[in-house]
Amino acid sequence: MHPAIYKALRCQLLSIALIFLLGQSGILPPVDVLALAALQGLSASFIALMTKSDRWWLPIHLVFMPAIVLASQLRLPANTYALIFGVVLCIYWTSFRTRVPLFLSNRATVHRFAATLDTESPRKVLDVGSGTGSFALTLARLRPDWHVTGCELAPAPYALSRWLSRRSPNVTLLRQDFWALSLHDYELVYAFLSPTPMEPLWRKARKEMPAGALFVSNSFPVPGVEPEQTIEVGDRRQT
Ligand SMILES: C[S@@+](CC[C@H](N)C(=O)[O-])C[C@H]1O[C@@H](n2cnc3c(N)ncnc32)[C@H](O)[C@@H]1O
Repeated sequence: MHPAIYKALRCQLLSIALIFLLGQSGILPPVDVLALAALQGLSASFIALMTKSDRWWLPIHLVFMPAIVLASQLRLPANTYALIFGVVLCIYWTSFRTRVPLFLSNRATVHRFAATLDTESPRKVLDVGSGTGSFALTLARLRPDWHVTGCELAPAPYALSRWLSRRSPNVTLLRQDFWALSLHDYELVYAFLSPTPMEPLWRKARKEMPAGALFVSNSFPVPGVEPEQTIEVGDRRQT
């Protein structure tokens, strides 16, 4: 799949080239750098609109360059930016490619999950993309007779989950790509990801999970597949 980030980059670069050419040709009157950045933002949004980018990219394109100009006027030490970039990178890691950012299952969902699936034990559960462990660790506490495995790629959420799991004997946390992990050992796979991976993940689940195993997706349906059961948690998020 072609990462959407390349399309966004093309919109930015095209609009920079456009504003540069307009400036060089004398069509643009001399304006200050913030006004130039605002014009660049406007044209980047317009290009994104014309190239059928998802709507939520438009405000990002609009404010991206002005935000850079404003931030540069704060005169922060140069390594502040590297530090912020490092922190964001450790949290989101490959989200630009996987298109699955970090957000967490809430307690109501995990409680409902544990109550609904209160069947024979022991259960072997896998959380694909376990984040900070908010699902895996809560479930492991609620069901000490189950074994919960979490699999997470991003280093910061993984490290936090490892630390939080230090007193949870029925939890295993792996730092790895779930696409490289076989699902054949798990009786139950839980996914709280985004619309992007659902179709290939469903194919992987059907190929690898044992007969009778359960695949549960929080919030993101598998396109074209009717779920056997839908559970409404009744929380504010309408999970
Ligand atoms: C929406 S969060 C869900 C966190 C957790 N499962 C929960 O319910 O609270 C999705 C997580 O999946 C991780 N992720 C995305 N793609 C992944 C992959 N291919 N392998 C492992 N983790 C991945 C992201 O880094 C992110 O932390």
